[in-house]
Amino acid sequence: MKQSLIIDCDPGVDDATGLLTAFASHDLDLLAVTTVGGNVSAEKTARNARILRQIAGREDVPVFAGAERPLRREPAGAGEFHGAEGLGDLAPFEPAAPTAEGTAAEAIVRLVKERPAGSVALIVMGPMTNLALAMRAEPRLADHLGPVVVMGGARAEGGNITASAEFNIWADPDAAAEVFASGCRMIVLGLDATHQVRSTETRIRMIEAVDTASGRTAAGMLRFSQRTEREIVGWDAGPLHDPCTVACLLKPQLFELAPCRIDVETESDLTRGHTAVEFRVEAATARHFWATRADADGVFALIAERLGAGQ
Ligand code: BDR
Ligand code: CA
Repeated sequence: MKQSLIIDCDPGVDDATGLLTAFASHDLDLLAVTTVGGNVSAEKTARNARILRQIAGREDVPVFAGAERPLRREPAGAGEFHGAEGLGDLAPFEPAAPTAEGTAAEAIVRLVKERPAGSVALIVMGPMTNLALAMRAEPRLADHLGPVVVMGGARAEGGNITASAEFNIWADPDAAAEVFASGCRMIVLGLDATHQVRSTETRIRMIEAVDTASGRTAAGMLRFSQRTEREIVGWDAGPLHDPCTVACLLKPQLFELAPCRIDVETESDLTRGHTAVEFRVEAATARHFWATRADADGVFALIAERLGAGQ
């Protein structure tokens, strides 16, 4: 049976590669893509998701636009890493198919609640605002959800937006704190894992060799990131964050996970969005799982294989 899935995202060049990989994965029952303001504005992330859906030929998957701003903070943005429009060098255009009726939070509640408990997985590639709003609207959602696979957080690696915090958690720490406290089962791919998944020249060429529209588009995203990571951070091979979520759902053995409890700092300005990862927990009852290791070659091979099977 296919795994039912909703992807919540803020495309974003790495979100784009993750989305294209999921669109091309026909063993997933992709129920919806929901979008949130994050890397760029909510209006742009919703448009970008629809652009990617069109490139992938997956207009059967509805896109629901979501929160325009974090629960309590000012919207941030990360245009320097994603381009002003969010999709790197890809010139944006108005996609043929519109967004679906209703908000992202409403769609998450409805699509999860109308299916058996535990059967719908949720991938979160951006700030957790939509999921927090969905949980506020339906407090039983946490019990009904399948695994929530998150790209976010930092521990051993330190942060990428401040010394303590990773962008997605930092951007809406209040939403993340609510979701982590909700009791849902969460698999968390923070910077400790995604910094192991580097877009080396060899790996980018592997994606460039995939001769499909999705492959060519993903390769363009990787080349753009290679340039910005070199210019801004000085890394020759930058990390590929968001696609790790899709890879982890499709092939969990690519990651090593440790049971833990994660709490998010919301009070301190200095450490806003820090993820406190506590490993001293009972493994049998743990609800959070922190990724400590990633098989980077395996992740890239999986992405290449899936993009080759798509449009
Ligand atoms: C995360 O921040 C965003 O800029 C990326 O899309 C990714 O989700 C990495 O910290
Ligand atoms: Ca993202």
